[in-house]
Formats: sequence, C-alpha cells, structure tokens
Amino acid sequence: MATTTISLPEGTEAHRGAVLHFLDDPGNNPEAITGSVEYIEDGLLCVHDGKVLALGKAAELLPQLPDGTKLTDWNGSLIMPGFIDTHVHMPQLPVMASYGTQLLDWLENYTFPHESRFQDADWARTQAEQFTQLLLAHGTTSGLIFCTSHRASVDALFEAAERQGMAMTAGKVLMDRHAPDTLTDTARSGYEDSLALLDKWHHRGRQRYAITPRFAPTSSPEQLALAGQLASAHPDVLVQTHWAENTGEIAWTRELFPDRTSYLDVYDHYGLLGTHTVLAHGIHIDERDRQRLTETGSRIAFCPTSNTFLGSGLFDLAGARSAGVMVGLASDVGGGSSLSMLATMAEAYKVCRLRGQTLTPWQAFYLATLGNARVLHREQELGNFRPGQQADFIVLDHRASPLLAMKEPYSRTLLETLFDLMILGDDRAIAATATGGILRYRRATASLGESL
Ligand code: GUN
Ligand code: ZN
Repeated sequence: MATTTISLPEGTEAHRGAVLHFLDDPGNNPEAITGSVEYIEDGLLCVHDGKVLALGKAAELLPQLPDGTKLTDWNGSLIMPGFIDTHVHMPQLPVMASYGTQLLDWLENYTFPHESRFQDADWARTQAEQFTQLLLAHGTTSGLIFCTSHRASVDALFEAAERQGMAMTAGKVLMDRHAPDTLTDTARSGYEDSLALLDKWHHRGRQRYAITPRFAPTSSPEQLALAGQLASAHPDVLVQTHWAENTGEIAWTRELFPDRTSYLDVYDHYGLLGTHTVLAHGIHIDERDRQRLTETGSRIAFCPTSNTFLGSGLFDLAGARSAGVMVGLASDVGGGSSLSMLATMAEAYKVCRLRGQTLTPWQAFYLATLGNARVLHREQELGNFRPGQQADFIVLDHRASPLLAMKEPYSRTLLETLFDLMILGDDRAIAATATGGILRYRRATASLGESL
C-alpha cells in the first residue's frame, strides 16, 4: 500500500497508531483469509482533502511528510475505519429500554407514540442532531437509517449528517394503514413525498436516499406497488424494510396477503427485492427464502441486540452465509439496546453461540466496516483505508475501561485484543471519531492524541 514513492502534498494531515482495516471478507475461521486483513503495528494514515492519501509504516512515511504537516500521535491505539450501521431508527432513541413487550405491542405502546412527535419539525431537528452526535460518540460514521413518515424528519436527519460530514442513506417511512393518524400517509402522498425527498437528497454530497416501506402489515398493496415502481425507476436507490422478525408479525402478514406464498413473496411480488434491498431481521425463514434472497441479491441486516431484547429469535448467520446471502450487522435502535457496534458484535457472537455457531473477531470487525459498506453499495468510498477512500476513521482505546485495562496484559494476539474490545468494549472505547478527515468527536477523558 504505502510506498517510498508516494508524494505527500501540502495540507496533508497524518495520524499515527496501530492501523487495522479489511481488504476483503476474512471468512469466519480463527485464521483470516490471506490478504483480507491489513494490520500495521506502527502505522501512519495520511489524509488529504478529506480522503485517504496513503497508509503505511510510520518509519517509511514520516520522513516524507512536508514541513508543517499536522501529525497526531494516538500512542499505539487502534485506528480503524468508522463503523457503519446497516439498520437504525433515528426517531427511536427514547424508545430504547422500553420494558416488557414483543414487537407488535412494542410498536403500538412505545414506538408509534414517540414517532408521532416528529410532526413537529423542531423536535425532529433536535432529535436528529442528538442522534448524529451519539452515533459519532459510539464510533459510527455512516448508516442506513429509518426516519419517520414525516418529510421533515428526513430533512432533519440529512441536514444533521451534512453538518457532521457523515455519509448517510435514509428514507421517509411509508405507512398507510394499521398505525395512528399521526403517522399514516396515503399510497399517493407517500410516493410523492418519497420522490421529492429522493430528488432533493439522493447524491447530495455524501447523502443517499432509501425507499422505506416500514413493513408489509403497515402498507396497503397500493402503497407497496408504488414503492416498487419508485425502486424500478431508480435502480441505484436502496430499499429498506423489516422482514420475518417475529412470529406474530409473520402470521398477521399472511392474513393480510393471503394470495402470496410467503412473507418474502409479498416484497417479491411488488418488485421490492434486488441487490439494493436491505431486509432487517430475517430470523424466521427457510431454505426457499434464502434461495430467493441469493437469486435476487437481496441483503439481510442482522440486528442481534434487538432480536434478543424484543425476544424475536436467534438469527441463523451460518445458514445465511452458506446460502450466499449477504449479511450486514446493525443496531436496530430503538428495538436494539445499544448504538455501539462493539456491543452489537458482542450480542451477535452470543446469538451465534446459542445456535452452536461462532463469529470470529475478524468477521465481526469486517462486518461493521467493509462488509457493511458492501451491503450498502458504498465500498467504493467507505469501509477501509484504500487510497482515495473517504477518511472516516475511529480511534479505539483498548484500555478504555477498568475491565479492558484489567484484561489487556492477558491478551497476547491481535485477535484476542479485538475480542476483548468487542465483548467488553462500549462507547468508552471510542477515543475519537473523524469523518472526511475532520475530528468530529473526542472522548472527554481522552489522554490520547496529543498534537505534535
Ligand atoms: N417492524 C416494523 N417496524 C419496526 C421497528 O420500528 N422496529 C423493529 N425492530 N421492527 C419493526
Ligand atoms: Zn428496525
């Protein structure tokens, strides 16, 4: 990657630390597939104009820095690409930790009342600002986001993301039945609002639009048909929805769509499957479903903290991987109980163990970075430190908490250190977060990163 021939122009900024990123899927064995992981123990990440210019050994690159280059030394902490969350709800921060319900009651009792507040555009702006700030504090620089059914919620999210330099893909929820009046649109107004937002935001800077039917039960056949039309007219726009999360939800969907052969067939019928579709959950599914996902290239967002918190079930990661289904990792806040992708990895590992499977640290950190970028079709700009990629990075402090500091002397390999971070780590492990090369978050107690 970095060579002695690279020329580093004026205005380059450099970050020194241990650097880890993925060049490809490392597989899910303790030994990562050769060539998939790059780790530089004393590395230098050189950033210019918001993008990665070079990555290499500090000893090789330091002498080439032009005089006056701003150099930040992160004292051996781990520099990684920013985390990406493939399924999270901006309006659901206060829905987190809602006691005692499963999906359908949780929606009715907690989620819909909270989302109704987004009729107020000022509330939407305040929440979107808080949401983006909290994501950065958890090391997440990018994501696929549900807003609410209100147009202003989408404007608020994208405006906040623009201010923070984050690369978001987001959409207005389509929902024209089985929800309170404060949240429902109509098939026509939902289509028109989506189109207006798509025209306004898709490819504006780092922002991308996503067509967002909430899930089959809250959309009429007319609304799903129009969503499918919108998707086929805009093949580079993502479609996001929920699917096969909860057994009550599945039974209800079958009642509502008696002519369809399965829940997945509802989305298939309305032209909502394809390489640009991300289906959250996909827990209660069968071989035919997996085959259809593979044929269409549709992806699943695995949301482990949500699936355990709401008692939805245990996602079959090995089954999806062996069928060739592309899987991303996601928090699904507020069904999920943490915005932290480290906590999400920990829960994913436990879900895998309960299914007699495993999730290696290589695979977990790959999923949260390059793997998720691939799910969102953003691997040409996000997910690793290849030259030319956007300089979205985090600094992970593997001594961040008393428990991590206690464990540190016992972990001898990089795999063990990564495993400590994913099992014991949380937002305290995020010492700093940058998007487009600019530091947007710095942990208040950071003792790291003295500018030299
Ligand atoms: N299914 C339909 N809406 C939602 C939602 O907001 N969260 C989750 N977890 N599942 C859903
Ligand atoms: Zn969700």
